[in-house]
Amino acid sequence: MFELCASILAANLSCLAQQVHAADAAGVDAFHIDIMDGHFVPAISFGADMVRVMRRLTAKPLDVHLMVEDPLAFVPELAALGAQRISVHWEAPGGPGAALGAIRAAGCSAGLVLDPETPVEAARPCLAQIDRLLLMTVRPGRGGQPYLPGSNARIAAARALLQNAPHPVTVQIDGGVTLRTLPAAYAAGARSFVSGSAVFTGAVDRSVQALRRAVQGV
Ligand code: DX5
Ligand code: ZN
Repeated sequence: MFELCASILAANLSCLAQQVHAADAAGVDAFHIDIMDGHFVPAISFGADMVRVMRRLTAKPLDVHLMVEDPLAFVPELAALGAQRISVHWEAPGGPGAALGAIRAAGCSAGLVLDPETPVEAARPCLAQIDRLLLMTVRPGRGGQPYLPGSNARIAAARALLQNAPHPVTVQIDGGVTLRTLPAAYAAGARSFVSGSAVFTGAVDRSVQALRRAVQGV
């Protein structure tokens, strides 16, 4: 399995529809929407309304990444708006357990996100509740940062941990995913790749095709 999720944080919002249609036609597998509240991370990006907008622009799955202090409060609305996948941070105050339960209860696929400093082992108590383990490969909160050293070892550690999961869990990574960093991350065991700058900088169709080709022969 390999999938590419286009992070619209890096899209040109003045022509969002055009950018989404180009990425869709070029073969991205899902669209990643970063919701930030200005507290859990300093920045504010999109709210639930962006999910509403995106639902009108594409039929591909919407993969929502909640960088907020109270993820539980967002889940019902996001599910009602048509987000198929929702991921919450382990570092959220109060922990991720209640939000993960609500995501599954709403019929969505649940992801647990770990900051770069959080040991992969922290995910162990949540394994029965998740469909995806999202490893941040940059500090959360903004796009265009370089892939952090040590990320591939974390991916391999995550794969080893997930051998103990009661059902298959995908390793997803987010941040600094480029033509240069993707092949080694794939070799380490990541299978879902969130990419913003590398998709939306330059010609979207060519960027998507190049990223998809990057795993061939790995
Ligand atoms: C960062 C966001 C990412 C961001 C990735 O906090 O979660 O989804 O868009 O951007 P790039 O691919 O530019 O590193
Ligand atoms: Zn993200």
